Amino acid sequence: MDTVKIIAFLFSFFLAGCQEPAMQSCDQKNFRYRFPKHFPQVVLPEDNLPNDCRILLGRKLFYDTRLSQDQILSCGSCHNLNMAFTDGEKTSKGFHQNSTQRNAPTLFNLAFAPYYLSEGGVKTLELQALAPLLDSLEMKGNPKGISPLLLNDPIIQELSQKAYGRPLDYYVITRALACFQRSMISADTHFDHAYYYKDQPWDSAAFRGWQLFQSNKLHCSECHKPPLFTDYNFYNIGLKNNNDLGKERESYNIQDRGKFKTPTLRNIELTPPYMHDGSVATLEEVIEFYNQGGHNHPENQDPRIKPLHLTAQEKSDLILFLESLTDWNAVQYERFLPLEQQQ
Ligand code: HEC
Ligand code: HEC
Repeated sequence: MDTVKIIAFLFSFFLAGCQEPAMQSCDQKNFRYRFPKHFPQVVLPEDNLPNDCRILLGRKLFYDTRLSQDQILSCGSCHNLNMAFTDGEKTSKGFHQNSTQRNAPTLFNLAFAPYYLSEGGVKTLELQALAPLLDSLEMKGNPKGISPLLLNDPIIQELSQKAYGRPLDYYVITRALACFQRSMISADTHFDHAYYYKDQPWDSAAFRGWQLFQSNKLHCSECHKPPLFTDYNFYNIGLKNNNDLGKERESYNIQDRGKFKTPTLRNIELTPPYMHDGSVATLEEVIEFYNQGGHNHPENQDPRIKPLHLTAQEKSDLILFLESLTDWNAVQYERFLPLEQQQ
């Protein structure tokens, strides 16, 4: 089943459980995510306000292989913290090593995204979790039921009661995973310190790269718009066609063929290979791709993607700028790791 169908299938079930559950303990009125001041405001869903229990349950489930049919995969199998929650594969390997169609994206700073997946077809993080949980190419969970191994786990059940006041079901699983994922924030980079916090001097090559990045010649920052380095819009940038319709899959509009959501460039150094299909191996190759004005030239290619005639120095400055977007602290935070790995 493809993702869109699965979501439609489960949507009625999902809504059926949508009354606000009676809250028990663990409801910390004062809980706040550590959202950076220079990031956009987030409106948190009323029916899933965060607290420590919800985040803890989400964190446990994120690393729990019992959510997948073969008990081998967890969310963390394809979203590894040290790679900014990606997996280093061209396209992710899911159930029985089946290749999925796409490259695993970073999960940092998703709280600020207006929709999810490269065609933007999923509106909330709560709903998004159903896609990998049930997709036959990814975790291949059973939509009719949750594994008895999980249901009979007293610690999970106790946390579920504390967090949502009800036994573990997809209502709880999807919401707890969303609470945990909203806590995955990353804004502690050389760029943030030099440009926003102004408590570090700019590295001069990275600064030159940043100026090029914003220039009228390159236009990078128009699509990769700071502070999140995405405008959440969809473009065809002229990658070789690989049968992935992109945004057209969701809109059924042929003009949208091969358009994909602008990805964030935060932590880009840690997330090769690149593009929705992992077809570009390194940052050097990405810059070469843009320098050539794309690989093939479909009719709906964005006009800003055109030959750039960059010098060797400009290419290297751009890469140093992109590397200034790495948050070496966030990729080591213990609160994002499996509990067992916390010291
Ligand atoms: C088999 C590997 C695999 C597993 C397991 C997996 N994912 Fe993913 N994830 C991916 C891939 C590939 C994509 C990109 C899909 C797309 O764009 O269509 C993705 C996309 C996402 C996105 C959307 C990000 C964005 O920028 O829109 C979120 C959120 C996400 N995954 C969370 C999870 C959660 C939560 C779990 C566990 C329930 C999980 N993933 C399990 C591979 C995986
Ligand atoms: C017209 C909008 C647009 C412009 C201009 C643009 N990009 Fe992109 N960029 C995108 C989109 C859309 C993708 C994802 C394409 C895909 O996955 O198929 C992308 C992908 C990338 C990636 C890979 C991200 C990943 O996680 O795989 C990098 C790096 C990147 N762009 C850097 C740049 C640089 C540097 C410039 C300026 C030379 C630039 N972009 C200009 C829209 C744009």
